[in-house]
Amino acid sequence: MPEPFTALVMAAGRGTRMRSSLPKMLHPVCARPMVEWVIDAARSAGAQRVVCVTRPDDGVAEGLPDGVDVAEQREGEGTGAAVLAGRATIDGEGTVIVLSGDTPLVSSELIAAVMQTHTSEQATATLLTTEKLDPAGYGRIVRTGDGAVERIVETKHTEDVSSRELEIEEINVGLYAFEADALWSALDTVGREHGETYLTGVLPVMRDAHQRVVAHLTADASSAVGVNDRADLMEAERLAQRRILREHARAGVSFLAPDCVRVEAGVEIGSETVVGAGVTLGGRTRIGERCTIGPQTTITDSQLADDVSVVHSFLLGVRMDDGSSAGPFAYLRPDAHVGPKAKVGTFVEVKNSELGEGAKVPHLSYIGDADVGAGANVAAGNITANYDGFKKHRTQIGEQARTGVHTSFVAPVSVGEGAYIGAGSVIVNDVPAGALGVSRAMQRNIEGYAERVERERG
Ligand code: UD1
Ligand code: MG
Repeated sequence: MPEPFTALVMAAGRGTRMRSSLPKMLHPVCARPMVEWVIDAARSAGAQRVVCVTRPDDGVAEGLPDGVDVAEQREGEGTGAAVLAGRATIDGEGTVIVLSGDTPLVSSELIAAVMQTHTSEQATATLLTTEKLDPAGYGRIVRTGDGAVERIVETKHTEDVSSRELEIEEINVGLYAFEADALWSALDTVGREHGETYLTGVLPVMRDAHQRVVAHLTADASSAVGVNDRADLMEAERLAQRRILREHARAGVSFLAPDCVRVEAGVEIGSETVVGAGVTLGGRTRIGERCTIGPQTTITDSQLADDVSVVHSFLLGVRMDDGSSAGPFAYLRPDAHVGPKAKVGTFVEVKNSELGEGAKVPHLSYIGDADVGAGANVAAGNITANYDGFKKHRTQIGEQARTGVHTSFVAPVSVGEGAYIGAGSVIVNDVPAGALGVSRAMQRNIEGYAERVERERG
């Protein structure tokens, strides 16, 4: 069991370089707000409690997931001021892990590793450092002759930094473990620089008080990838997407073209499912095992069971049962439910409709507000006329019914079990079970017509 800790997420930065009315912390990375990635990582690392520091009325608190406590940073600028703002909410002893809300790629493994070092070293402060990033703009780790951490030099303003310090490649990632009581008393003594209270100012104070300050050096630089503008956001998106695909791949999902696939955070995919090129899976989508998805398919907020195939199609708010299929070129809209082994074929649109087990709509049809019974076959080019200009009405097509090509169903209307429909019919009245419904005009052949035309032309 890891030692218990509280996570404090600093999320009250101004973030003006995003050039956005949406607070920086709520910008999505693979569809999940940036700060939520950090909160999730802290929770999976074992945080007992997460406290998030926001500015009053900046809109961030409203965008946080359930169970996160909010502390408002009402005064002061800088990371030290942010941590002080969390003091009253945390109130107490124990270990506090401090994280930045704008480093969405921080991993739970690294948080746990920092916590582990902090405990085993019996440290007062443990900070995460790396040498694997371009150090420009980051705080540099100044060590003493015997290798201990002495202090951090901030390099955002380089004018007061010596050239020797600027050569240091080990940087402060911005992830720390602190003993809470020592943190608060050290922070009380830290002054301001460039109008800010620096959290990193506590380290020399702790050293002077003979408290143990240690560094946890990592080669995993992604935890330090911070987002300050939308170019950084693009990079975070790319790395987060890779991480999501890798996790699915390790769980048994194949990606045929991983560089042109988008899978949003939170999407579930079963093992042995194969995802082709140009696929986007988003929202609350859950896909079962052994499915074939794509190429060129978008699926949002939909549930697909096992052995489902969807090719070149667009699905939104849909349910597909075991062994069913859609496409190529199908459009399935909200509340379409495709039953087991049922088929929605080429150039078919389905909305708010139930397709029973094994029902087929293979070509060029619109099925809206309809119930198609098990084993029924809807022939090519069938349209449910579901709207009378005022209200939507349902069409019922019974089990094992066989409709003819180019048929319209003017709803409300129902076709009985096992009934047939003649091709080209406009069905306005119910068709009884087992009957043939046909409504087209009788065919008439006019003999010698072509000759007559010739004659009339002279
Ligand atoms: C900080 C570190 C630096 C480190 C770098 C890593 C300090 C003084 N410096 O610098 O050593 O290399 O992170 O990325 O800590 N925040 C608030 N309230 C504020 C200011 C900031 O909540 O008043 C939050 C921000 O939202 C952000 C985090 O604190 O999540 C870091 O702030 P930022 O201004 O980006 O610090 P850096 O200058 O990058
Ligand atoms: Mg930063």
